[in-house]
Amino acid sequence: MNENSIILKVKNLNTRFDTPDGEVAAANEISFTLKKGESLGVVGESGSGKTQIFMALMGLLAKNGKTTGEAIFKGQNILGLPVTELNKVRGVSLSMIFQDPMTSLNPYLKVSRQMTEVLIEHQGMSQKKALERSIEMLELVGIPEARKRVHMYPHEFSGGMRQRVMIAIALLCEPDLLIADEPTTALDVTIQAQILDLLHDLKDKLGMSIVMITHDLGVIASMCDHVMVMYGGRVVETGSVQALFSDAKHPYTRGLLQSMPRIDGDHNEDLYAIPGQPPNLQALPQGCAFQPRCQYATNLCQQERPQTTEFDAGRTASCHQLSSAFHASSPVKNNPVNVVEGVL
Ligand SMILES: Nc1ncnc2c1ncn2[C@@H]1O[C@H](COP(=O)(O)OP(=O)(O)OP(=O)(O)O)[C@@H](O)[C@H]1O
Ligand SMILES: [Mg+2]
Repeated sequence: MNENSIILKVKNLNTRFDTPDGEVAAANEISFTLKKGESLGVVGESGSGKTQIFMALMGLLAKNGKTTGEAIFKGQNILGLPVTELNKVRGVSLSMIFQDPMTSLNPYLKVSRQMTEVLIEHQGMSQKKALERSIEMLELVGIPEARKRVHMYPHEFSGGMRQRVMIAIALLCEPDLLIADEPTTALDVTIQAQILDLLHDLKDKLGMSIVMITHDLGVIASMCDHVMVMYGGRVVETGSVQALFSDAKHPYTRGLLQSMPRIDGDHNEDLYAIPGQPPNLQALPQGCAFQPRCQYATNLCQQERPQTTEFDAGRTASCHQLSSAFHASSPVKNNPVNVVEGVL
């Protein structure tokens, strides 16, 4: 691989939280590479560690968190950079859209101030030029009457509009990499689709790379080149969208795919759900973390954590049963577990 085309290389990243009940191993031995202009989807159930990987990268872990490993962004290891150095990168060439817009918008400052300050500080723009650019950005993300609304406070925007404001702020300096953490889950379906279209357009227009964190494999299918599937704080499968959707190797990934509603599906048919609950990261089961929920689990799965098998560059899976018969079995209908609601 041409090293110049790599925008982000994460090597053996581990994130831990100290709590009164013991340590939470939120992200373990995470390694992946993202090229310029490519997009990576990160999927997994609630609590699987998706957000904390990227909070660690942004230097935004909670006080009780610590992280080890490397994250080489544009040739520089950004893990553990002093804040002054990190601030030259954050919000400039590396931006994040957070799960909750109010965590990144300051409720006491008008949107105009929150936007212009970034441009004045990082791009040396005049106040007037910064305001014009901010209005342009708000227009680009589809905020009507942007010239007037730029002078409003965050709470004066509806949820969907606030999400757009946050996207506009994240894109102000035309980042090389945008991390979008569930950017649309809180929104209604029409606005979700509009925002995803917008990100898609901007990816093409600006040539930026995107990490899309989501519960929704449909979003990944429509937006991403590669996928990383997380379970219990670890990556259990990676591959191109094409490979993963046509030939998922891990039983958990197969379960996720089976629990996706299908456009051509029978509306009266119950949706599949992976049985059981996501694991408690403080009390992970022995062996493979997925084994208590896995219909293919054997004694080996209960005793030893599986190693990661690499099939091709970027195509990996961590499972003891990769070569067993489950690959041949037909998914949804033959599966003994058919319940109404998805667990995602
Ligand atoms: N400050 C903290 N102290 C202790 N544990 C934490 C802290 N922050 C996060 N965690 C734990 O880390 C684990 C991973 O959290 P993370 O936010 O990455 O999950 P996620 O996959 O993004 O879930 P969701 O889909 O619900 O957003 C969870 O078990 C969570 O409870
Ligand atoms: Mg999250």
